[in-house]
Amino acid sequence: MNTPSTITRRALITAGGVTVVGAGALALAACTPSGASTSGSAGGGAGAAPSAPKPASGTEVAKLSDIPVGGTASAKIAGAPVLLAQPTAGTVVCFSAICTHQGCVVAAAAKEFDCPCHGSKFEAATGNVLHGPAVTALDKIAVTVSGNSVVTA
Ligand code: FES
Repeated sequence: MNTPSTITRRALITAGGVTVVGAGALALAACTPSGASTSGSAGGGAGAAPSAPKPASGTEVAKLSDIPVGGTASAKIAGAPVLLAQPTAGTVVCFSAICTHQGCVVAAAAKEFDCPCHGSKFEAATGNVLHGPAVTALDKIAVTVSGNSVVTA
């Protein structure tokens, strides 16, 4: 009588402990690279940030000439996919390419950004949702134009 009950409780406690530790580690791992709260410490370039990357300012993202005026392009910052648009000549905006719906990588289309997973569309100049299911705009990344380079701000 006592044995099955003891085994069950022990198994549950063990399983619960592993689960909690695992979840805690995942939470820490998820918070550290994307942590907007600790902005700009030592460059934090480990790389696999799922949301808006935060590299050191001045990091080249793309060549200005690779982004058509009125069009879009894709690039990477510290290994993370980003989207670029040049709404008017010399003005460039940049967004995380991670879809705000369920995290797929959004693609640059001619005048907008399209998510291949469930069909969300985002306005190129603002990152705002044009068509759901996403309801939140893409995360904006500050960039500036320096000569023919688009660099992080
Ligand atoms: S993950 Fe992009 S629309 Fe669902």
